[in-house]
Amino acid sequence: MGKKLFIETFGCQMNVLDSEVACATLKRIGYEVTPDLREADLVLLNTCAVREKASDKVFTRIGSLRNARKPGSLLGVMGCVAQGESGRILEGAPEVDLIIGTQSLHKLPDLIEQREKRGEPAVDVRMHNRASFNGISPAERKRQNVAFVTIMEGCDKFCTFCIVPFTRGRERSRSPWRILEEVIALHRAGYQEVQLLGQNVNSYGKGERLEDGTSLSFAGLLELLAKESGIPRIKYTTSHPADFGPSILSVMNRHESLCNWIHLPPQSGSDRILAAMNRGYTRDEYFRKVDQIRASHRDYSLTGDIIVGFPGESDEDFIATVDLVQYAQFDALYIFKYSARPGTVAAKRPDDIPEPVKLERLQELDRIHREIQRRRNERCVGKVYRILVEGRSAKKSDDLTGHTACNRVVNFPAPAGDWAGRLVDVRITEAYAHSLFGKIESVHDGEAKQGAPWT
Ligand code: SAH
Ligand code: SF4
Ligand code: F3S
Repeated sequence: MGKKLFIETFGCQMNVLDSEVACATLKRIGYEVTPDLREADLVLLNTCAVREKASDKVFTRIGSLRNARKPGSLLGVMGCVAQGESGRILEGAPEVDLIIGTQSLHKLPDLIEQREKRGEPAVDVRMHNRASFNGISPAERKRQNVAFVTIMEGCDKFCTFCIVPFTRGRERSRSPWRILEEVIALHRAGYQEVQLLGQNVNSYGKGERLEDGTSLSFAGLLELLAKESGIPRIKYTTSHPADFGPSILSVMNRHESLCNWIHLPPQSGSDRILAAMNRGYTRDEYFRKVDQIRASHRDYSLTGDIIVGFPGESDEDFIATVDLVQYAQFDALYIFKYSARPGTVAAKRPDDIPEPVKLERLQELDRIHREIQRRRNERCVGKVYRILVEGRSAKKSDDLTGHTACNRVVNFPAPAGDWAGRLVDVRITEAYAHSLFGKIESVHDGEAKQGAPWT
């Protein structure tokens, strides 16, 4: 009988994709994925280290697994905490059998074998920083609607607060031909949307660590995929404001399949803090990027991330951030309290903004942004948007849920049946702070028959 794998994923889309790759790799050696922890022969935790809370979650989770796992099962930790804190894991959690670094995913079968043979934890956290990318076929994917496709990995920006350059290593880019091949295969397999992933997609094709045949910039890659892949929707994350400019925008302006959503995290609106963060742009430069985006003929949605309470952030600095948020009029904003990450430059400075002040700033900014987002969402009422259906809404199972090309969440009632992965046109009737509600007008993906039940 085959063995069973239970996997839990924390963190960003990169980790979601890595979990899919881990499942596919283990399937090839006879593992089957199970949603039931108690029957699993192998439990994998795919971890995130971006903030202290995320990192600590791993240790709490290992503790809570102690009595819940099947006796004799193996426990593995992968992802960014595994990469950065293997020593702490081995010391604090002796029951961990496998530690799989972010560049060792393909080694999973070897590590399991090694653990079984030697009877001691098997660890591989080497950083070879090679431009080799783990492949996964459309059939091996778990997500049915959106397919994540890695275009580059790693980050060389070294923002002073950020652990990612340490956990994901140096920037390396994948060959555009391999990416194109994968997107074409995904479209043939029925996927209507791909999301191109990279810690810093604008660095695509730069530097020396390039897979064979890599000769394009990020804008060039977008153009190639838009022209040649045939897939109706291409999204990407994350852009870095220092490198996002007219060449990318001009390609996006020309191709509708390049979705009208730009995630451009400013992190702060204060020049003093931006410099201390080593972000490489000023608030004015960020404003000019916003101006370029808003001046386009396409209606882009703009989203961002902000960190409040960075060391030394004064009231004036925070006011400058509020001002930036009001200027940019984000369609969605993710606000985080600064959290010192061991080994980063900022962690050498005292984490001097008291917790209640961080919380107060977060809540204040959230209140301001929420109002902006509600107003931005209200502009959508009465219009028709094409939605990629992801499945039934978690809150109300009569409703379906999905995203627009501009990455807004839309819920709408629909008859029973499997709708996941289909494109439908929905007229918006109501706007909320974080989502829209509407009614199906038509099915776009050509599979609908005449006299369908919603007409
Ligand atoms: N590559 C992306 C972001 C990666 S991390 C970029 O360049 O923007 C995702 C978000 O987590 C960041 O945008 C930042 O807002 C937040 N973040 C990263 N490190 C953090 C820290 N030490 N404390 C609080 N938030 C952090
Ligand atoms: Fe982290 Fe900065 Fe790289 Fe983003 S660009 S992953 S915030 S170091
Ligand atoms: Fe977290 Fe690593 Fe992603 S730290 S946000 S899982 S790159």
